[in-house]
Amino acid sequence: MEIQNKTVLLTGASRGIGPYIAKTLANAGAVLIGLARSEEGLNTTKAEIEYEGGTFHTISFDLKNINGLSDLVEQATTINGEIDILVNNAGIELCRKYQNYSADEIRDVLNVNLHAPLELSRLLLPAMLERGGHIVTVASLAGKKGMAYNTPYSASKAGLIMWTDGMRQELRGTKVGISVICPGFISDTGMFYEDHVDPPAMLGTSKPQAVADAVIKAIKNNSAEIIVNKGPMKPLLAIGQISPSFGDKIVRKFGVIEFNKKRIKK
Ligand SMILES: NC(=O)c1ccc[n+]([C@@H]2O[C@H](COP(=O)([O-])OP(=O)(O)OC[C@H]3O[C@@H](n4cnc5c(N)ncnc54)[C@H](OP(=O)(O)O)[C@@H]3O)[C@@H](O)[C@H]2O)c1
Repeated sequence: MEIQNKTVLLTGASRGIGPYIAKTLANAGAVLIGLARSEEGLNTTKAEIEYEGGTFHTISFDLKNINGLSDLVEQATTINGEIDILVNNAGIELCRKYQNYSADEIRDVLNVNLHAPLELSRLLLPAMLERGGHIVTVASLAGKKGMAYNTPYSASKAGLIMWTDGMRQELRGTKVGISVICPGFISDTGMFYEDHVDPPAMLGTSKPQAVADAVIKAIKNNSAEIIVNKGPMKPLLAIGQISPSFGDKIVRKFGVIEFNKKRIKK
């Protein structure tokens, strides 16, 4: 799908990777509607995009409010007409031993990361099916192999990957494309960077711009799935599918479990 003059609803546009995606889509000629809770963060992204000559509208909204998403979509479509492209980028994580999560914390992770993208897509799909459209969701490598001490996050991201997988088959032959992006650790900004814990050396990090570039590529080529990671991840993921316990050994050897232990929030 071409991006020029398309209206994009992008969640998580106030900080982290989202502003990179916003700027890259704006540079490609899209009209952006950026969503997040922080008006201040959204206005910073807006100023940066408008400085470059792009168009960025803001909607302050808490994605935990699943029942409010229908009104939100109505509000978003009054700005520049129907939404052509949905980028589900907002996400939260919280590292804990599983028994130490509260029920509310697990619900929040699942609502923001999984339920909100699915519900937004459900609400936007009828118009997209008539006019054409694309849905891109930012999942994570944590949805390809479970992450100890970050398991609700892993569950939410695995859910997004499998939902996209099923939807791609359901949408085949329609005017709607669907893609999932699976980044590894991202440097310079974002949820992992903010923790200031060194990533496992054998996995390395990728730049946030690489995620933004993957979003553009996914929309243009209707890519099924794009992994954003420095190392050769696909063979390792394939080994983990054939033998999960051997996959555990690799993850342990890479230091991922010790790494997440250091990220546990009190
Ligand atoms: N950074 C990484 O290394 C990495 C790796 C793999 C995958 N990812 C994925 O990439 C995406 C972006 O991550 P990031 O690193 O940019 O995260 P981030 O820096 O923590 O930013 C998260 C974004 O989501 C928004 N958000 C959080 N809770 C929200 C809520 N309740 N309602 C509405 N918006 C909310 C935040 O805005 P407000 O706080 O203003 O609401 C912010 O714009 C996520 O889906 C993440 O899982 C990141």
